[in-house]
Amino acid sequence: MARPTRHKRKGRRQSSPPSREEIVSIGALGGAGDGVADIAGKTVHVPFVLPGEKAKISVQGQRVKLLEILEVSANREEPQCMHFGPHGDRCGGCALQHLPTADYTSWKLEKVHKSLSQARLTEVEVLPLKTSPLESRRRASFAIERQAGEIVCGFHERQTHRLIGLKECLILLPALFDARQHIVKVLRSLFEAHPGLKLSVHITAVDNGLDTDISGPLHDEDLSLQQRQHLAALLPDTPIKRLTINGDVFWQGEQPVISLAETPVPLPPRSFLQATKQGEVALQEIVRSGTRGAKKIADLFSGCGTFTFAALAEGASVHAVESDASAIQAINQARKLSGQPVTTEMRDLFHQPLMPPELNTYDAVIIDPPRAGAEAQAQQLARSNVQKIISVSCNPKTFARDAAILVGGGYSLEAVQPVDQFLFSPHIEVAGIFTKG
Ligand SMILES: C[S@@+](CC[C@H](N)C(=O)[O-])C[C@H]1O[C@@H](n2cnc3c(N)ncnc32)[C@H](O)[C@@H]1O
Repeated sequence: MARPTRHKRKGRRQSSPPSREEIVSIGALGGAGDGVADIAGKTVHVPFVLPGEKAKISVQGQRVKLLEILEVSANREEPQCMHFGPHGDRCGGCALQHLPTADYTSWKLEKVHKSLSQARLTEVEVLPLKTSPLESRRRASFAIERQAGEIVCGFHERQTHRLIGLKECLILLPALFDARQHIVKVLRSLFEAHPGLKLSVHITAVDNGLDTDISGPLHDEDLSLQQRQHLAALLPDTPIKRLTINGDVFWQGEQPVISLAETPVPLPPRSFLQATKQGEVALQEIVRSGTRGAKKIADLFSGCGTFTFAALAEGASVHAVESDASAIQAINQARKLSGQPVTTEMRDLFHQPLMPPELNTYDAVIIDPPRAGAEAQAQQLARSNVQKIISVSCNPKTFARDAAILVGGGYSLEAVQPVDQFLFSPHIEVAGIFTKG
Protein backbone atom coordinates (compact mmCIF):
# COMPACT_ATOMS: atom_id res chain seq x y z
CA MET A 1 0.00 0.00 0.00
CA ALA A 2 1.15 3.57 -0.66
CA ARG A 3 2.47 5.17 2.47
CA PRO A 4 1.52 8.83 2.74
CA THR A 5 4.29 10.74 4.52
CA ARG A 6 3.35 11.72 8.04
CA HIS A 7 5.07 14.49 9.91
CA LYS A 8 5.35 13.93 13.63
CA ARG A 9 4.10 16.93 15.54
CA LYS A 10 5.73 17.92 18.78
CA GLY A 11 3.42 19.34 21.41
CA ARG A 12 0.53 21.54 20.37
CA ARG A 13 -0.23 22.46 16.79
CA GLN A 14 1.45 25.74 15.84
CA SER A 15 -1.05 28.46 14.99
CA SER A 16 -0.49 30.40 11.74
CA PRO A 17 0.77 33.96 12.14
CA PRO A 18 -1.91 36.65 11.78
CA SER A 19 -2.50 38.10 8.33
CA ARG A 20 -2.58 41.86 7.75
CA GLU A 21 -3.20 44.03 4.72
CA GLU A 22 -0.76 46.69 3.51
CA ILE A 23 -0.52 49.11 0.61
CA VAL A 24 2.97 49.23 -0.88
CA SER A 25 4.87 51.01 -3.67
CA ILE A 26 7.07 48.77 -5.79
CA GLY A 27 10.60 50.08 -6.21
CA ALA A 28 12.42 47.47 -8.29
CA LEU A 29 12.34 43.89 -9.50
CA GLY A 30 14.18 41.54 -7.17
CA GLY A 31 16.34 38.56 -8.10
CA ALA A 32 13.38 36.14 -8.20
CA GLY A 33 11.33 38.44 -10.45
CA ASP A 34 9.12 39.76 -7.65
CA GLY A 35 8.58 43.44 -6.93
CA VAL A 36 10.56 44.79 -3.99
CA ALA A 37 8.77 47.03 -1.51
CA ASP A 38 9.47 48.46 1.90
CA ILE A 39 7.18 48.22 4.93
CA ALA A 40 8.52 50.20 7.90
CA GLY A 41 12.13 49.47 6.95
CA LYS A 42 11.47 45.80 6.21
CA THR A 43 11.83 44.52 2.63
CA VAL A 44 9.00 42.44 1.19
CA HIS A 45 8.83 40.70 -2.19
CA VAL A 46 5.51 40.93 -4.00
CA PRO A 47 4.74 38.52 -6.86
CA PHE A 48 3.32 39.63 -10.24
CA VAL A 49 3.96 43.39 -9.87
CA LEU A 50 6.25 45.86 -11.61
CA PRO A 51 8.37 48.83 -10.52
CA GLY A 52 6.26 51.98 -10.20
CA GLU A 53 3.09 50.08 -9.31
CA LYS A 54 1.13 50.47 -6.10
CA ALA A 55 -0.39 47.29 -4.71
CA LYS A 56 -2.61 46.05 -1.91
CA ILE A 57 -1.06 42.94 -0.39
CA SER A 58 -1.64 40.60 2.51
CA VAL A 59 1.31 39.64 4.66
CA GLN A 60 1.25 36.50 6.75
CA GLY A 61 4.59 35.63 8.27
CA GLN A 62 6.95 35.25 5.29
CA ARG A 63 4.09 34.89 2.82
CA VAL A 64 3.12 37.92 0.75
CA LYS A 65 0.03 37.70 -1.42
CA LEU A 66 -0.94 40.25 -4.06
CA LEU A 67 -4.57 41.29 -3.51
CA GLU A 68 -4.97 44.14 -5.98
CA ILE A 69 -2.87 46.36 -8.20
CA LEU A 70 -4.01 49.89 -7.31
CA GLU A 71 -1.77 51.79 -9.73
CA VAL A 72 -0.79 49.96 -12.89
CA SER A 73 2.56 50.56 -14.65
CA ALA A 74 2.34 51.80 -18.25
CA ASN A 75 4.97 49.15 -18.88
CA ARG A 76 2.72 46.25 -17.88
CA GLU A 77 2.25 43.66 -20.61
CA GLU A 78 -0.83 41.45 -20.95
CA PRO A 79 0.35 37.93 -19.99
CA GLN A 80 -0.03 35.38 -22.77
CA CYS A 81 -0.99 32.47 -20.52
CA MET A 82 -4.38 32.17 -18.83
CA HIS A 83 -2.77 30.66 -15.73
CA PHE A 84 -0.35 33.52 -15.09
CA GLY A 85 -0.68 36.13 -12.36
CA PRO A 86 -3.46 37.42 -10.13
CA HIS A 87 -6.00 37.43 -12.98
CA GLY A 88 -5.17 33.81 -13.75
CA ASP A 89 -4.41 30.94 -11.38
CA ARG A 90 -1.18 32.46 -9.99
CA CYS A 91 0.67 29.47 -11.50
CA GLY A 92 4.08 29.03 -9.91
CA GLY A 93 5.65 27.92 -13.23
CA CYS A 94 6.37 31.48 -14.47
CA ALA A 95 7.38 34.67 -12.66
CA LEU A 96 7.64 37.25 -15.45
CA GLN A 97 5.06 37.20 -18.20
CA HIS A 98 3.88 40.76 -17.45
CA LEU A 99 7.09 42.44 -18.56
CA PRO A 100 7.80 43.68 -22.13
CA THR A 101 10.41 41.49 -23.89
CA ALA A 102 13.05 44.26 -23.95
CA ASP A 103 12.74 44.82 -20.18
CA TYR A 104 12.71 41.08 -19.49
CA THR A 105 15.94 40.71 -21.51
CA SER A 106 17.61 43.65 -19.75
CA TRP A 107 16.57 42.26 -16.36
CA LYS A 108 18.15 38.89 -17.15
CA LEU A 109 21.32 40.52 -18.51
CA GLU A 110 21.52 42.77 -15.45
CA LYS A 111 21.77 39.67 -13.26
CA VAL A 112 24.89 38.67 -15.20
CA HIS A 113 26.38 42.20 -15.10
CA LYS A 114 25.74 42.42 -11.36
CA SER A 115 27.40 39.08 -10.60
CA LEU A 116 30.43 40.01 -12.70
CA SER A 117 30.77 43.42 -11.09
CA GLN A 118 30.44 41.92 -7.58
CA ALA A 119 33.40 39.70 -8.50
CA ARG A 120 35.28 42.80 -9.84
CA LEU A 121 35.09 41.61 -13.44
CA THR A 122 33.64 44.84 -14.82
CA GLU A 123 35.70 44.75 -18.03
CA VAL A 124 34.04 41.54 -19.23
CA GLU A 125 31.56 42.08 -22.07
CA VAL A 126 28.09 40.56 -21.69
CA LEU A 127 26.96 39.39 -25.13
CA PRO A 128 23.32 39.63 -26.32
CA LEU A 129 21.02 37.03 -24.76
CA LYS A 130 20.47 33.78 -26.65
CA THR A 131 17.00 32.58 -25.90
CA SER A 132 14.85 29.49 -26.43
CA PRO A 133 11.48 29.76 -28.20
CA LEU A 134 8.08 29.23 -26.61
CA GLU A 135 7.06 25.59 -26.16
CA SER A 136 10.63 24.30 -26.08
CA ARG A 137 11.15 23.00 -22.51
CA ARG A 138 11.86 19.29 -22.74
CA ARG A 139 11.92 18.34 -19.07
CA ALA A 140 9.65 19.37 -16.22
CA SER A 141 8.37 18.25 -12.82
CA PHE A 142 4.62 18.20 -12.26
CA ALA A 143 2.59 17.50 -9.16
CA ILE A 144 -0.23 14.98 -9.39
CA GLU A 145 -3.13 14.30 -7.00
CA ARG A 146 -6.84 13.59 -6.91
CA GLN A 147 -9.15 16.61 -6.60
CA ALA A 148 -12.92 16.14 -6.31
CA GLY A 149 -12.73 12.75 -7.99
CA GLU A 150 -10.55 14.01 -10.88
CA ILE A 151 -6.84 13.34 -11.20
CA VAL A 152 -4.99 16.59 -11.75
CA CYS A 153 -1.43 16.86 -13.06
CA GLY A 154 0.07 20.35 -13.22
CA PHE A 155 2.01 23.01 -11.36
CA HIS A 156 1.42 24.45 -7.91
CA GLU A 157 0.06 27.90 -7.36
CA ARG A 158 2.83 30.31 -6.46
CA GLN A 159 3.81 29.94 -2.75
CA THR A 160 1.02 27.45 -1.99
CA HIS A 161 0.31 23.72 -2.32
CA ARG A 162 -2.82 24.30 -4.41
CA LEU A 163 -2.45 22.30 -7.58
CA ILE A 164 -3.49 23.84 -10.90
CA GLY A 165 -4.74 21.61 -13.71
CA LEU A 166 -3.11 23.21 -16.75
CA LYS A 167 -5.23 24.06 -19.77
CA GLU A 168 -2.27 25.60 -21.58
CA CYS A 169 1.41 26.23 -21.05
CA LEU A 170 3.67 28.55 -23.04
CA ILE A 171 6.94 27.01 -22.05
CA LEU A 172 6.53 23.24 -22.37
CA LEU A 173 7.11 21.26 -25.56
CA PRO A 174 3.65 20.13 -26.71
CA ALA A 175 4.78 16.52 -26.18
CA LEU A 176 5.52 17.33 -22.55
CA PHE A 177 2.23 19.17 -22.05
CA ASP A 178 0.32 16.23 -23.56
CA ALA A 179 2.34 13.73 -21.51
CA ARG A 180 0.27 14.67 -18.45
CA GLN A 181 -2.88 13.18 -19.93
CA HIS A 182 -1.10 9.85 -20.48
CA ILE A 183 0.21 9.86 -16.92
CA VAL A 184 -3.26 10.63 -15.55
CA LYS A 185 -4.74 7.75 -17.56
CA VAL A 186 -2.04 5.32 -16.47
CA LEU A 187 -2.18 6.26 -12.78
CA ARG A 188 -6.00 6.55 -12.44
CA SER A 189 -6.51 3.18 -10.74
CA LEU A 190 -3.65 3.87 -8.34
CA PHE A 191 -5.25 7.14 -7.21
CA GLU A 192 -8.61 5.43 -6.92
CA ALA A 193 -7.04 2.91 -4.54
CA HIS A 194 -5.15 5.64 -2.63
CA PRO A 195 -7.20 8.85 -2.95
CA GLY A 196 -4.99 10.95 -0.64
CA LEU A 197 -1.80 10.21 -2.55
CA LYS A 198 0.30 13.18 -3.69
CA LEU A 199 3.12 12.49 -6.12
CA SER A 200 5.61 14.33 -8.31
CA VAL A 201 6.14 13.29 -11.91
CA HIS A 202 9.33 14.24 -13.69
CA ILE A 203 9.02 13.88 -17.45
CA THR A 204 11.75 14.23 -20.07
CA ALA A 205 11.03 14.30 -23.79
CA VAL A 206 13.69 12.12 -25.45
CA ASP A 207 14.36 11.12 -29.08
CA ASN A 208 12.04 8.12 -28.94
CA GLY A 209 9.26 9.32 -26.61
CA LEU A 210 8.99 10.15 -22.93
CA ASP A 211 11.04 9.12 -19.93
CA THR A 212 8.95 9.38 -16.76
CA ASP A 213 9.85 9.18 -13.10
CA ILE A 214 7.32 9.21 -10.29
CA SER A 215 8.54 10.31 -6.91
CA GLY A 216 6.87 10.49 -3.54
CA PRO A 217 5.54 8.10 -0.90
CA LEU A 218 5.13 5.22 -3.31
CA HIS A 219 7.41 2.24 -3.73
CA ASP A 220 7.58 -0.50 -6.30
CA GLU A 221 6.62 -3.11 -3.68
CA ASP A 222 3.58 -1.04 -2.63
CA LEU A 223 1.79 -1.92 -5.86
CA SER A 224 -0.45 -4.97 -5.89
CA LEU A 225 -0.05 -7.56 -8.63
CA GLN A 226 -3.29 -6.35 -10.15
CA GLN A 227 -2.12 -2.72 -10.15
CA ARG A 228 1.17 -3.73 -11.74
CA GLN A 229 -0.56 -5.68 -14.46
CA HIS A 230 -2.93 -2.78 -15.07
CA LEU A 231 -0.09 -0.24 -15.37
CA ALA A 232 1.98 -2.52 -17.57
CA ALA A 233 -1.01 -3.11 -19.85
CA LEU A 234 -1.69 0.62 -20.31
CA LEU A 235 1.88 1.90 -20.74
CA PRO A 236 2.62 0.41 -24.21
CA ASP A 237 -0.26 2.47 -25.67
CA THR A 238 1.36 5.74 -24.59
CA PRO A 239 4.51 7.61 -25.72
CA ILE A 240 6.05 6.70 -22.33
CA LYS A 241 9.07 4.49 -22.96
CA ARG A 242 10.13 4.01 -19.35
CA LEU A 243 8.44 4.48 -16.00
CA THR A 244 10.63 4.64 -12.92
CA ILE A 245 9.40 4.98 -9.36
CA ASN A 246 11.74 6.98 -7.16
CA GLY A 247 14.46 6.23 -9.71
CA ASP A 248 13.92 2.43 -9.87
CA VAL A 249 12.74 1.01 -13.17
CA PHE A 250 9.14 -0.18 -12.91
CA TRP A 251 8.50 -0.68 -16.62
CA GLN A 252 10.55 -0.19 -19.76
CA GLY A 253 9.21 -0.67 -23.25
CA GLU A 254 12.32 0.77 -24.89
CA GLN A 255 15.54 2.33 -23.66
CA PRO A 256 15.04 6.14 -23.68
CA VAL A 257 17.71 7.65 -25.94
CA ILE A 258 18.84 11.25 -26.34
CA SER A 259 21.09 12.47 -29.15
CA LEU A 260 23.89 14.67 -27.88
CA ALA A 261 25.74 16.30 -30.79
CA GLU A 262 24.20 13.55 -32.91
CA THR A 263 25.57 10.73 -30.76
CA PRO A 264 22.74 8.56 -29.40
CA VAL A 265 23.15 8.23 -25.63
CA PRO A 266 21.04 5.84 -23.49
CA LEU A 267 19.60 8.17 -20.85
CA PRO A 268 19.70 6.91 -17.24
CA PRO A 269 16.61 7.58 -15.08
CA ARG A 270 16.36 11.10 -13.61
CA SER A 271 19.36 12.34 -15.60
CA PHE A 272 20.41 15.94 -15.98
CA LEU A 273 19.81 17.35 -19.45
CA GLN A 274 19.95 20.98 -20.60
CA ALA A 275 16.36 22.25 -20.34
CA THR A 276 15.84 22.93 -24.07
CA LYS A 277 17.45 21.61 -27.24
CA GLN A 278 18.09 25.22 -28.34
CA GLY A 279 19.84 25.97 -25.02
CA GLU A 280 21.92 22.81 -25.41
CA VAL A 281 22.97 23.79 -28.95
CA ALA A 282 23.81 27.38 -27.92
CA LEU A 283 26.04 26.11 -25.11
CA GLN A 284 27.62 23.43 -27.33
CA GLU A 285 28.52 26.15 -29.88
CA ILE A 286 30.48 28.05 -27.22
CA VAL A 287 32.20 24.85 -26.10
CA ARG A 288 33.06 24.05 -29.72
CA SER A 289 34.49 27.49 -30.39
CA GLY A 290 36.57 27.29 -27.19
CA THR A 291 37.92 23.80 -27.87
CA ARG A 292 38.49 24.22 -31.62
CA GLY A 293 41.98 22.97 -32.53
CA ALA A 294 42.49 21.22 -29.16
CA LYS A 295 43.58 17.59 -29.44
CA LYS A 296 43.06 16.51 -25.84
CA ILE A 297 40.18 17.81 -23.77
CA ALA A 298 38.84 17.19 -20.25
CA ASP A 299 35.08 17.62 -19.75
CA LEU A 300 34.55 18.11 -16.00
CA PHE A 301 31.04 17.70 -14.53
CA SER A 302 30.26 15.96 -17.81
CA GLY A 303 26.82 14.54 -16.97
CA CYS A 304 25.80 12.22 -19.82
CA GLY A 305 28.11 14.01 -22.24
CA THR A 306 26.36 17.12 -23.64
CA PHE A 307 29.78 18.73 -24.18
CA THR A 308 31.83 15.52 -24.36
CA PHE A 309 30.12 14.53 -27.62
CA ALA A 310 30.16 18.11 -28.96
CA ALA A 311 33.94 18.28 -28.44
CA LEU A 312 34.43 14.77 -29.87
CA ALA A 313 32.60 15.86 -33.00
CA GLU A 314 35.43 18.37 -33.55
CA GLY A 315 37.96 15.51 -33.75
CA ALA A 316 39.55 15.70 -30.28
CA SER A 317 39.89 12.95 -27.68
CA VAL A 318 37.90 13.69 -24.52
CA HIS A 319 38.21 12.58 -20.90
CA ALA A 320 34.80 12.92 -19.18
CA VAL A 321 34.76 13.28 -15.38
CA GLU A 322 31.60 13.15 -13.29
CA SER A 323 30.46 11.93 -9.84
CA ASP A 324 27.29 10.20 -11.02
CA ALA A 325 27.92 6.53 -11.87
CA SER A 326 24.90 6.19 -14.16
CA ALA A 327 25.94 9.22 -16.24
CA ILE A 328 29.43 7.76 -16.67
CA GLN A 329 27.90 4.44 -17.67
CA ALA A 330 25.74 6.21 -20.26
CA ILE A 331 28.80 7.81 -21.87
CA ASN A 332 30.59 4.44 -21.89
CA GLN A 333 27.63 2.72 -23.55
CA ALA A 334 27.37 5.46 -26.19
CA ARG A 335 31.10 5.23 -26.83
CA LYS A 336 30.89 1.46 -27.36
CA LEU A 337 28.38 2.00 -30.15
CA SER A 338 30.01 5.04 -31.74
CA GLY A 339 33.67 4.03 -31.25
CA GLN A 340 34.62 7.62 -30.36
CA PRO A 341 37.88 8.37 -28.50
CA VAL A 342 36.44 9.10 -25.06
CA THR A 343 37.61 7.94 -21.64
CA THR A 344 35.61 8.35 -18.42
CA GLU A 345 36.26 8.73 -14.72
CA MET A 346 33.91 8.76 -11.77
CA ARG A 347 35.25 11.37 -9.38
CA ASP A 348 34.02 13.86 -6.82
CA LEU A 349 35.43 17.10 -8.16
CA PHE A 350 34.49 19.10 -5.06
CA HIS A 351 36.77 16.99 -2.88
CA GLN A 352 39.19 15.60 -5.45
CA PRO A 353 39.63 18.21 -8.16
CA LEU A 354 42.07 17.50 -10.99
CA MET A 355 45.46 18.90 -9.93
CA PRO A 356 47.81 20.99 -12.13
CA PRO A 357 50.11 18.11 -13.29
CA GLU A 358 47.02 16.24 -14.47
CA LEU A 359 45.34 19.34 -15.91
CA ASN A 360 48.47 20.33 -17.84
CA THR A 361 48.13 17.21 -20.02
CA TYR A 362 45.04 18.80 -21.66
CA ASP A 363 44.85 21.55 -24.30
CA ALA A 364 41.38 22.56 -23.14
CA VAL A 365 39.16 21.94 -20.12
CA ILE A 366 35.37 22.30 -19.97
CA ILE A 367 33.68 22.88 -16.59
CA ASP A 368 29.91 22.84 -16.08
CA PRO A 369 29.26 22.40 -12.34
CA PRO A 370 25.95 22.44 -10.45
CA ARG A 371 24.65 25.72 -8.93
CA ALA A 372 27.24 25.61 -6.12
CA GLY A 373 29.98 26.17 -8.71
CA ALA A 374 33.43 24.61 -8.89
CA GLU A 375 35.53 26.60 -6.44
CA ALA A 376 37.99 23.82 -5.57
CA GLN A 377 38.46 22.90 -9.24
CA ALA A 378 38.80 26.56 -10.27
CA GLN A 379 41.61 27.01 -7.70
CA GLN A 380 43.56 24.13 -9.29
CA LEU A 381 42.81 25.32 -12.83
CA ALA A 382 44.10 28.79 -11.85
CA ARG A 383 47.46 27.17 -11.00
CA SER A 384 47.58 25.18 -14.26
CA ASN A 385 48.86 25.98 -17.74
CA VAL A 386 45.81 24.73 -19.63
CA GLN A 387 45.46 27.05 -22.63
CA LYS A 388 41.68 27.21 -22.82
CA ILE A 389 39.01 26.77 -20.15
CA ILE A 390 35.38 26.83 -21.18
CA SER A 391 33.17 27.51 -18.19
CA VAL A 392 29.41 26.91 -18.35
CA SER A 393 27.14 27.62 -15.41
CA CYS A 394 23.50 27.85 -14.35
CA ASN A 395 24.40 30.32 -11.61
CA PRO A 396 25.92 33.69 -12.58
CA LYS A 397 27.08 34.29 -8.99
CA THR A 398 29.20 31.16 -8.67
CA PHE A 399 30.30 31.52 -12.30
CA ALA A 400 31.65 35.00 -11.47
CA ARG A 401 33.25 33.83 -8.20
CA ASP A 402 35.07 31.00 -10.02
CA ALA A 403 35.90 33.28 -12.97
CA ALA A 404 37.62 35.71 -10.56
CA ILE A 405 39.74 32.80 -9.27
CA LEU A 406 40.80 31.93 -12.83
CA VAL A 407 41.53 35.59 -13.68
CA GLY A 408 43.57 35.82 -10.46
CA GLY A 409 45.61 32.87 -11.78
CA GLY A 410 46.47 34.71 -15.02
CA TYR A 411 43.55 33.76 -17.27
CA SER A 412 41.75 36.33 -19.36
CA LEU A 413 38.04 36.41 -20.08
CA GLU A 414 36.81 38.82 -22.73
CA ALA A 415 33.09 38.09 -22.88
CA VAL A 416 30.34 35.92 -21.47
CA GLN A 417 27.39 34.49 -23.36
CA PRO A 418 24.08 34.47 -21.44
CA VAL A 419 21.68 31.70 -22.49
CA ASP A 420 18.02 31.72 -21.46
CA GLN A 421 16.46 28.27 -21.45
CA PHE A 422 14.04 28.96 -18.59
CA LEU A 423 11.67 31.47 -20.18
CA PHE A 424 9.71 33.76 -17.82
CA SER A 425 11.71 32.48 -14.84
CA PRO A 426 14.60 34.12 -12.95
CA HIS A 427 17.10 31.49 -14.17
CA ILE A 428 19.90 32.28 -16.60
CA GLU A 429 22.91 30.28 -17.82
CA VAL A 430 26.27 31.80 -18.67
CA ALA A 431 29.30 30.55 -20.55
CA GLY A 432 32.73 32.02 -21.13
CA ILE A 433 36.08 31.10 -22.66
CA PHE A 434 39.21 31.74 -20.59
CA THR A 435 42.63 31.82 -22.20
CA LYS A 436 46.19 31.73 -20.86
CA GLY A 437 49.48 32.26 -22.61
C1 LIG B 1 24.88 21.28 -14.58
S1 LIG B 1 25.11 19.55 -14.72
C2 LIG B 1 26.02 19.52 -16.22
C3 LIG B 1 26.06 18.19 -16.92
C4 LIG B 1 26.54 18.22 -18.38
N1 LIG B 1 27.72 19.05 -18.55
C5 LIG B 1 25.45 18.66 -19.32
O1 LIG B 1 25.49 19.80 -19.83
O2 LIG B 1 24.53 17.87 -19.57
C6 LIG B 1 26.29 19.30 -13.47
C7 LIG B 1 26.83 17.90 -13.34
O3 LIG B 1 27.75 17.88 -12.26
C8 LIG B 1 27.65 16.62 -11.61
N2 LIG B 1 28.19 16.79 -10.26
C9 LIG B 1 27.56 17.30 -9.17
N3 LIG B 1 28.40 17.31 -8.12
C10 LIG B 1 29.56 16.79 -8.55
C11 LIG B 1 30.82 16.56 -7.92
N4 LIG B 1 31.00 16.85 -6.64
N5 LIG B 1 31.82 16.02 -8.65
C12 LIG B 1 31.63 15.73 -9.95
N6 LIG B 1 30.47 15.92 -10.61
C13 LIG B 1 29.45 16.46 -9.91
C14 LIG B 1 26.17 16.30 -11.67
O4 LIG B 1 25.95 14.91 -11.52
C15 LIG B 1 25.80 16.84 -13.05
O5 LIG B 1 25.91 15.82 -14.03
